Amino acid sequence: MSIEQMIMGSGILIFLTIASGILVSHSGKPYQPFIFTMHKLIALGMVAVTAILIFNLFKILEINDLILFLVIASGVSAITLFVSGALMSIGKASFSLIKVIHVVATILGVVVLVLSLFLLLRI
Ligand code: HEM
Repeated sequence: MSIEQMIMGSGILIFLTIASGILVSHSGKPYQPFIFTMHKLIALGMVAVTAILIFNLFKILEINDLILFLVIASGVSAITLFVSGALMSIGKASFSLIKVIHVVATILGVVVLVLSLFLLLRI
């Protein structure tokens, strides 16, 4: 798979992850197993494709401290999303706080990822 295809694949999967998350949110509780499973699987696929993309870009492009910081920040956002998603699904107390964390981590994750890709590719 070429770098261009991976960038496109990662972008599509990010979009599908967010869209399926909004669907989960709107389908109400208890979560519909199919939509919820799709959200988790698409999220997992998105993280895998994006991680492989970044790994490949690191091998061929010049990295500086800022890019490294942004990539680490997007990794921390991904971990936060998985942990907060799991906590929401088991119906932990302070649900609304965890949901805010899930949404903020989504926004931060996308922003730092797009920024690091822009810097890596010098667009
Ligand atoms: C890693 C990438 C992920 C992204 C970008 C993401 C994004 C989102 C978004 C945008 C929403 C909609 C929030 C709203 O409408 O206010 C959502 C909802 C949700 N996500 Fe994720 N998510 C991710 C991973 C996960 C994972 C791995 C899980 C489960 C382990 C999960 C569980 C949930 C749940 C349960 C909801 C519904 C919350 C509610 O009841 O309103 N998410 N997600």
